[in-house]
Amino acid sequence: MVSEGGFDANYYVVLKSDPLFYNCHEYTIIKSLSNDGSYSGTALDGMKILNLACGPATEIPHFLEKGASLVVGLDVDANMVNNAKYYLSSIGSDSSKYSIYKADCFSIDSISQALPLDIYSDYFDAVADFWLICNASSITQLESGFKATNKFLKIGGIYSFVTVNPKEIQEFSKFQELMSVDWYTNLKRLFYDGEIAKIEYAFMDMKTRQEKFVFNATVWTLDDVKNALERCGFELVGAKGYETNPNFDFSNKSQQSRELMTGEYTPGFCFKARKIANAEN
Ligand SMILES: C[S@@+](CC[C@H](N)C(=O)[O-])C[C@H]1O[C@@H](n2cnc3c(N)ncnc32)[C@H](O)[C@@H]1O
Repeated sequence: MVSEGGFDANYYVVLKSDPLFYNCHEYTIIKSLSNDGSYSGTALDGMKILNLACGPATEIPHFLEKGASLVVGLDVDANMVNNAKYYLSSIGSDSSKYSIYKADCFSIDSISQALPLDIYSDYFDAVADFWLICNASSITQLESGFKATNKFLKIGGIYSFVTVNPKEIQEFSKFQELMSVDWYTNLKRLFYDGEIAKIEYAFMDMKTRQEKFVFNATVWTLDDVKNALERCGFELVGAKGYETNPNFDFSNKSQQSRELMTGEYTPGFCFKARKIANAEN
């Protein structure tokens, strides 16, 4: 059932059990957050991490495994929040090291209901999100999210996030062709809402190739993201496609999937920014 965040929470838990995800999404973002750019067992040693739009929280155990001392997950969808709590307790994660709350990550007021500002302003060493900003439907909303992130992050802290590859705008048909084989989404169409590019994705049942639900994602350009970050107290320090763990076993993946995970057409694209000033509200 698709609810507040535009996703089917139960389907998403199943999808995220595929090792493909932690070998590209988490692999990319952990390396980006780590002080030394590594994926070692201590890559995130002692870090307090805020995980925006955490969905079913399948990222959180990976952050903890790499040494994070605390991870707070936030999601706007109550079903995702319930699944996240269930998932983390079912795998025996140490409950003193994580918390999950429902919050709209584009709103400081909403986040501060879970994380009061007198304690949590400038509190986290790093902020991570996978597929939050593709839910923003205007530059104003994008900046409102970046300002909220800025509020809870320490000066000098890193904000890394994955969103739709900006190349999907210019090279839509190439991505469409690559994803049509055994990827978990199909690209249905590229369209414009005013000046904002959007892509309609169908999420697929990986066994039957039947559509499960459809999601419209905003595709931000590099300039949109860079300029908005700079207006919100960040400097952009990196922007690149997914890296995939070299140990990932591709033997049962198609050539197209391999290209999507390792080539220049990775559907996910990782931005890395550093907080250099408090954002003006
Ligand atoms: C593609 S899912 C990604 C979930 C998770 N980050 C992952 O990669 O497994 C996108 C998530 O964004 C959440 N979301 C959408 N809008 C949001 C908002 N305004 N604030 C917080 N979460 C939001 C959805 O509920 C959903 O869980």
